[in-house]
Amino acid sequence: MFKYFIYIFIILIIVFIVGFCVWALIKKKSGICPFCVIKQYMLKSKLTIKVSENEFYDGGDAQTPPMGWSSWNTFRNNIDEKLILETADALVKTGLADAGYKYVNLDDCWHSSMRDDNGRLQGDLVRFSSGIDWLADEIRSKGLKIGLYSSNGDYTCEDLPASSGNEKIDAETFARWGVEYFKYDFCHNTKIPSVAPLVEAIELKQGNSIKTYSADKAKLEGMAKISKDKNLKTGKYLSFLGHGKGKAVFEVDCASDGDCDFTLCIKKCGRYEKYLVVQVNDRFYEMFIPFTKSWTTGGRYQTKIQVKKGKNVIKLFNPVCTRADSSYIQYKRMGVALKNAAGDKKITFSICEWGRNKPEKWAWNAGNLWRISPDIIPNWRWINVLYNMNIRLAEYAGPGHWNDPDMLEVGNGNLTYEENKTHFSLWCMMAAPLILGNDIRKLPDDKKTLDIISNKKMIAINQDMAGMQCVRYKKTPTFDFLMKQLADGSVAICIYNKKKNTKKVRISKENCPAEMPENSRKMKEIWTNSELSFGDILTLKGHDCAVFVAK
Ligand code: GAL
Repeated sequence: MFKYFIYIFIILIIVFIVGFCVWALIKKKSGICPFCVIKQYMLKSKLTIKVSENEFYDGGDAQTPPMGWSSWNTFRNNIDEKLILETADALVKTGLADAGYKYVNLDDCWHSSMRDDNGRLQGDLVRFSSGIDWLADEIRSKGLKIGLYSSNGDYTCEDLPASSGNEKIDAETFARWGVEYFKYDFCHNTKIPSVAPLVEAIELKQGNSIKTYSADKAKLEGMAKISKDKNLKTGKYLSFLGHGKGKAVFEVDCASDGDCDFTLCIKKCGRYEKYLVVQVNDRFYEMFIPFTKSWTTGGRYQTKIQVKKGKNVIKLFNPVCTRADSSYIQYKRMGVALKNAAGDKKITFSICEWGRNKPEKWAWNAGNLWRISPDIIPNWRWINVLYNMNIRLAEYAGPGHWNDPDMLEVGNGNLTYEENKTHFSLWCMMAAPLILGNDIRKLPDDKKTLDIISNKKMIAINQDMAGMQCVRYKKTPTFDFLMKQLADGSVAICIYNKKKNTKKVRISKENCPAEMPENSRKMKEIWTNSELSFGDILTLKGHDCAVFVAK
């Protein structure tokens, strides 16, 4: 009996190996490196594209973490212009606008499921019937700024039209309305294919002159290679340009500076979409090739490129290997569109791909802030999880580029006073964006919440110009000890009681950071306004914290 199992096992292994070889051969014949495909699935979504280290997105106004309000946490899909204007008024009346909360952000569901006759997004025809441009003017007239939302996919998370493929037109619409904050979600996102088309030739047309460069005119880099196919006019085509593994480089001659019609002549293959970057000197153009039906062998795909008189270098490649590569390119595309559309105005760009693709490694190049986690909810355990995810990312934050552990839930759900206070303190210490998520109109009757979110000293710590995110310099089962270095050389210290019950902690050398100025003697606890000195014992209720600045 056992013998038969062994035979079956061996047969299965042989079937698997033969199957694998056939699959690899098919891939190879389609111009795809089979090992690159396997690697793509084995690699955790990590960026493989090289992002130049010092190239930060500079299209936004985020030298300090953005501050404002968003409709999502409380109102979800139930928003209209009346609510937004009442909120804007409440921000002003409560003094929150003066405290720094300037953005009024309409999250999902501000818009109609129908684009207008010119293909532009438009506000919900009933709930925002006066138009978003009118609303934006009203918001600005109160000294505030409007923020809008879309998704890096075909639809938003509430299944309304989104901006993938419409980056330019949507960015222009937002800029025309004077939008100053833009949140870009990740729902209905499709990964850019890692596969490149098989290229038979490129054609350049300027005026009446058409020049054709066949595959064998290209210099090959990396794994790129030339394959033969007698059914093609030239008999040759370029393959292995995908998965960031190969490049084909053409040197072309152009008669004059300016626009040029670029045609990519491909050999059709495979019922899957393909992607190619056409780099012309230092500009990049993207081409998407749909999955092909093989009635004929070749296909022609076109784009307009900018060339200069004389010699030009055209490189063809597909740099996408992982999901992170794809997200980076897609978010960068929107960042560039926003920057171009805004001209000398600023649009702060908030990337929201829920921390899926390690955005801290690339998002600073595409936008100003990036969500590092799934959505926040007003539940202490979950807020604590988000805090723990974000606290590790201190090295990635700085002026103009921030980790975003999501909008505030202060004043929402059943958080205790201490939890609300600690949530706010942790977000301030972590230099997180302070985007309120509560019903601002109710604040006059909720003094405690209002006091927390308008605490000037805490806001000053968050908005400190040095732009440092706090680090956790000590951790015990009961307490977390955090330190944020401030621009004037002082340090903000936060001691957070993670337990449900009241605990005591001593302000001692061991519990204070080494960076603390040596002569710090008297310090003021920010929430209680009480004097603190070395040797004092702090009593902290469950989930409470103490924050003080040592000069
Ligand atoms: C989620 C996002 C939320 C909110 C929501 C709207 O993906 O994380 O913050 O914007 O979509 O549908």
